Amino acid sequence: MIANAIATYLARLTAVEDDALRAIWLARGLAEKGILTTIEADPEHQRLAKASYEDAGIPSRVRSIVGRALDVLPRLADGGYDLAFLDAVKAEYPEYLEHALRLVRPGGVILADNVLWSGRVTDRKATDPDTEGLRTYARRIAEDERLDSVILTIGDGLAVSRVRRPGETA
Ligand SMILES: C[S@@+](CC[C@H](N)C(=O)[O-])C[C@H]1O[C@@H](n2cnc3c(N)ncnc32)[C@H](O)[C@@H]1O
Repeated sequence: MIANAIATYLARLTAVEDDALRAIWLARGLAEKGILTTIEADPEHQRLAKASYEDAGIPSRVRSIVGRALDVLPRLADGGYDLAFLDAVKAEYPEYLEHALRLVRPGGVILADNVLWSGRVTDRKATDPDTEGLRTYARRIAEDERLDSVILTIGDGLAVSRVRRPGETA
């Protein structure tokens, strides 16, 4: 059971209602006293998302932080989370991963959205920072011996990495 989770995004309710729905589903899947911590750079998105948490009847299950992920993540407690969901700036995913490895307890899970990037990650002509960041992320989760990882080809690609417990091997 997930006690605490963190998401590096919140919602674009007017444009992408899916983002808020994901947060609501995550919050509803938490253990009784679990809290979902979200980080959103845009105050208006944050405001809209909070309204959706009220509507969903779960405002007390969500701690919403306004700020850029790379400014906020260093302030969060080591080993305080069972799940991290990464979905902000794709170029920054490798840095989010370093934070997630510090924040998520052994046995926990790190998820990253959009890792196929509409096929651009396999297009050699695509060398923009977001695509390169996603390639680096995929390489790191494949090579990191602290993780067991798989990329699901659902939607735009979802990377699922489980953090190994001490002494655990593949
Ligand atoms: C990146 S979008 C999610 C896109 C979604 N995965 C999709 O496939 O359409 C989610 C949110 O990230 C927020 N965001 C952008 N940069 C951010 C950052 N550096 N830190 C935190 N949130 C950020 C945006 O304001 C937006 O509300």
